Amino acid sequence: MRVTSPAASAYGARRSHAWHLFLWLGMLGLAMLAGCGQQILGAEEQIVTGKTVYQEHCARCHGDQGEGKRGPLLIGPRHGMRGYGTAQGLYNYTSQIMPFDAAGSLSSEEYWAVLAYLLDANGVALPQAALSAANAEQIPIDQP
Ligand code: HEC
Repeated sequence: MRVTSPAASAYGARRSHAWHLFLWLGMLGLAMLAGCGQQILGAEEQIVTGKTVYQEHCARCHGDQGEGKRGPLLIGPRHGMRGYGTAQGLYNYTSQIMPFDAAGSLSSEEYWAVLAYLLDANGVALPQAALSAANAEQIPIDQP
């Protein structure tokens, strides 16, 4: 005498497939949520890092608050960075010319970070993902 009929075990197998699919979707959802959280954190961390880079490599010429000194002011309604059009344009200029006495001496991560800090300080809307070559062309800096 059988304990389970073939029909009953086939039913059991289908049920367990459904259960796996359910679990899998749940895990996918969690992974996506975690991913979003990381992106937001990525942008915030980049701005915090950028402030440190700024204090170390830019403040002596552009002022502690970006108010301008030997170099032009970078933070404030009259900043001249709008002229570079997009965040990518600003990156191209800054990474080639700045720091004025040590051009190109920072890593690309440091340039992106310091620019994220400066743009954020000027109220420019940044993407939730960290600022990079992947999105900088789409970020106009003649705002707000
Ligand atoms: C040794 C002094 C010095 C340092 C250090 C320095 N800068 Fe500059 N910066 C200048 C000067 C001078 C100018 C103006 C250059 C010109 O007009 O050709 C300038 C211009 C700029 C501009 C263009 C501003 C505008 O209105 O067009 C940006 C952006 C900028 N600097 C960013 C930075 C960043 C970011 C750092 C740090 C990574 C930095 N600078 C470090 C002296 C400096």
